[in-house]
Amino acid sequence: MFGAKTQSLQKRAMEVMPLGVNSNFRFWGEGITPYVEKAKGAYLWDVDGKRYIDYRMAFGPIILGHSFDEVDQKVIEEIQKGILFAMTGELEVAVVEMITEMAPAVEMVRLACSGTEATMHAIRVARAYTGRDLILKFEGNYHGMHDHTLWSTYAPVEAYGNRRSPIPVPASSGIPKTMREFIITLPFNDFEGFERVMRSYGEQIAAVITEPCQGNCAAITPQDGFLELIREKTEEYGCVFILDEVKTGFRIANGGAQEYYRIKPDLATYAKALGNGYPIAAFGGKREIMSTIGQGVAQGGTYTNNKPGVAGAYATLSLLKSKPILQTIAQRGQRLMNGLKDIFEENGIPVVMSGYPAMFSFSLGVEAVTCQRDWAKSDHALYLHLVEKAIERGVMPDHDAREPWFLCYSHSDADIDETLNVYAEIVKEVKK
Ligand SMILES: Cc1ncc(COP(=O)(O)O)c(C=O)c1O
Repeated sequence: MFGAKTQSLQKRAMEVMPLGVNSNFRFWGEGITPYVEKAKGAYLWDVDGKRYIDYRMAFGPIILGHSFDEVDQKVIEEIQKGILFAMTGELEVAVVEMITEMAPAVEMVRLACSGTEATMHAIRVARAYTGRDLILKFEGNYHGMHDHTLWSTYAPVEAYGNRRSPIPVPASSGIPKTMREFIITLPFNDFEGFERVMRSYGEQIAAVITEPCQGNCAAITPQDGFLELIREKTEEYGCVFILDEVKTGFRIANGGAQEYYRIKPDLATYAKALGNGYPIAAFGGKREIMSTIGQGVAQGGTYTNNKPGVAGAYATLSLLKSKPILQTIAQRGQRLMNGLKDIFEENGIPVVMSGYPAMFSFSLGVEAVTCQRDWAKSDHALYLHLVEKAIERGVMPDHDAREPWFLCYSHSDADIDETLNVYAEIVKEVKK
């Protein structure tokens, strides 16, 4: 799939880095892992010099385009004044003010550097606020690398047990067995199961954490009323509702899923599109809950207001506020979603489209997908076969069918046309 330089760089990297990468998700296999040279706008070039229309967007952060001039210029201007002080500056106050203006349920914010940190801090705050330990999460959702929620994310679903009494499955060796005591897992969109668990454990649950859609499992969307049910029951039992908007925030609407679904969680977490790729994250929410920080709740980090991240967020949010950027992405993305759906249907391949135009996915060979257990029955071999063919023709979705396709403002109508032409060709080829 990739050229000679890619192969030799992978060999070199594998000598010194486990799997030859700095994050397990970037390893596609020996001989089939891409290594990148540069990226600009909607395009990525591998180390062999081949160009791709990029639909990975670094797993979601790139909302405007790679190396987007207006963002990079602001970052360059700011880093020349120093990048780290372990003191607070005006720019970060302005970024936080913009987050509180844009996200309807967010009154106070703390910045962090990654989505993992944001959810980890939010969970601590929720536990401190409620005085409880249990966390409820949904199968197939991913909230970062910490031990608190790295359960039932990617495991083969057979390990999850019966859906009435799901078994939380650690996604890694090295997670202390005792952490199992603190986690409850449930299938996404399981209204009845959620009500049942809340009846039994609601008063012991510190937080219910969920992605608004399953951004780490084919962008499966919440069924009507599911997020509202979580809101209602968390309120009834005094649990903190944490909406993990690391993938949806500043992507599906300026105010993220909170705006899109008109839902008000107690806390929300952000990263990715917040900084168009610069290292920045945030968590925030109700003043009463966030105020526990500083009243006995520890939160901090040397790099939490790093200037590249803060300047990147300042420029990105300013642009999102000043132009209908997300609407433009949504129009182009909708055309891509519709076009792909038509191609599969014309070729007699059952397809379920899911997600939003800026972040969508599709499951092949199935009729309905409402949770990871359904998605597991879809035709992954066909999905992967098509991805590999698309990559050969210069279109790059992620190699993992769970990972959505991400669009950015720099994807043009011509890029969408080229992508649809490629898929029309390869789907036909595969059908033969
Ligand atoms: C919903 C969600 N939460 C948290 C994280 C963790 O973010 P990070 O990789 O920045 O630590 C991710 C990463 O993909 C994510 O998708």
